[in-house]
Amino acid sequence: MKLNLENAASFACADKLAKLAAETAAANELLESGKGAGNDFLGWVHLPSSITDEFLAEVQATANLLRETAEIIVVAGIGGSYLGPRAVNEALDHTFGLNGNNPRVVYAGNNIGEDYLADLMELLEGKTFAIINISKSGTTTETALAFRLLKTKLEATVGKEAARELIVAVTDKEKGAARKLATKEGYKTFVIPDNVGGRFSVLTPVGLLAIACAGHDIKALVKGAQDMEKATGVDVPYDQNPACQYAAMRNALYQDGKKIEILVNFQPKLHYMMEWWKQLFGESEGKDLKGIYPASVDFTTDLHSMGQWIQEGERTIFETVVSVEKANKTVLFPHDEENLDGLNFLAGKRVDEVNKMAELGTRLAHVDGGVPNMLVTIPVLDEYNLGQLIYFFERACGVSGYLLGVNPFNQPGVEAYKKNMFALLNKPGYEAESAAILARLNK
Ligand code: PA5
Repeated sequence: MKLNLENAASFACADKLAKLAAETAAANELLESGKGAGNDFLGWVHLPSSITDEFLAEVQATANLLRETAEIIVVAGIGGSYLGPRAVNEALDHTFGLNGNNPRVVYAGNNIGEDYLADLMELLEGKTFAIINISKSGTTTETALAFRLLKTKLEATVGKEAARELIVAVTDKEKGAARKLATKEGYKTFVIPDNVGGRFSVLTPVGLLAIACAGHDIKALVKGAQDMEKATGVDVPYDQNPACQYAAMRNALYQDGKKIEILVNFQPKLHYMMEWWKQLFGESEGKDLKGIYPASVDFTTDLHSMGQWIQEGERTIFETVVSVEKANKTVLFPHDEENLDGLNFLAGKRVDEVNKMAELGTRLAHVDGGVPNMLVTIPVLDEYNLGQLIYFFERACGVSGYLLGVNPFNQPGVEAYKKNMFALLNKPGYEAESAAILARLNK
């Protein structure tokens, strides 16, 4: 993985950048020493290097059991218990679901859409399916709802005994409701460590099990993260440390009024990586009335919708492009006798070459339009490079949050909507909140 800041540096105030660059060493050290805010959630820092072959073999063995039995594996989870596995799987899966002998992996528990759930039940009708229920707490409404429906359907289809073998719970070690249920029912379980927050949990069984189920190489994924853990450690000086450089640059731009960072891809398979990244940075930095707003676009698709805004709208944005050097497959631009679209000058070229020129042209145009541009390049879309990318962004996020002066590891704001929702639904224990919200609505 390479980071190129050439097209961002000219936009940043040199003094501010130098000051922030100097501060990254201390910020990175806080992740190591555990003396910073949120230090009870630093289990992710050395997670990659602590993963053993034995542990990966256990995850793989469980995945193999599910893969052998199920046509469809439903992964239930939301937020940090959802986006990581989906990001990796969607980046590596066949775009249109032609995944050979691999079971189809689908996702549930990440919304409260009645039609979504009804469609899911229809999809599962008559199929053999397994469930991975991912929830640290076990009380998250979206996931608990989906799990109730899925468990009931599975038990009705194959019987309670057989269903037990087809359900795996990924949850906390002892406290949560999902742990209690798993113990009572006798499900196979994996632990989400207490000191790893949801958005940093993709390299725990939260991500690894569902990724192995989809047929992807979790050893290579972890190896990529391990190498990036070394490349971003406290012993790596600023000029060689991509996490510190990225963290310093985005904070320098933010201090100069660039309030929105747009993560950009030119590969549709990276769409969910961007969703994962948005949660990582959004939940980590958006607090205390501070924080860069993390947005994302899929190019070239969104050049035909958001391109105008980015080129000529308010100059409060910067872009970070995640670029993949080589496509995995080959398609050539076809020749056409009539050439009515005037595109025969491209005939015979790799489509990826055309895409790369779209990427370069877009980056230059946006820089000319006043949008600072950072470039993160990986050689190819595979497990190893995704592992690198994941840990790079995690480490950069920790450093960046400390530079910003927030606790990057809590998310107190996500409770506000839940409080209102439970009050509106008359949840027992919320009587006072229910009365208050009704009075407010009836005013
Ligand atoms: O990052 C987070 O903490 C959240 O996104 C949680 O992961 C999410 O709310 C799911 O919580 P749980 O795993 O308890 O169901």
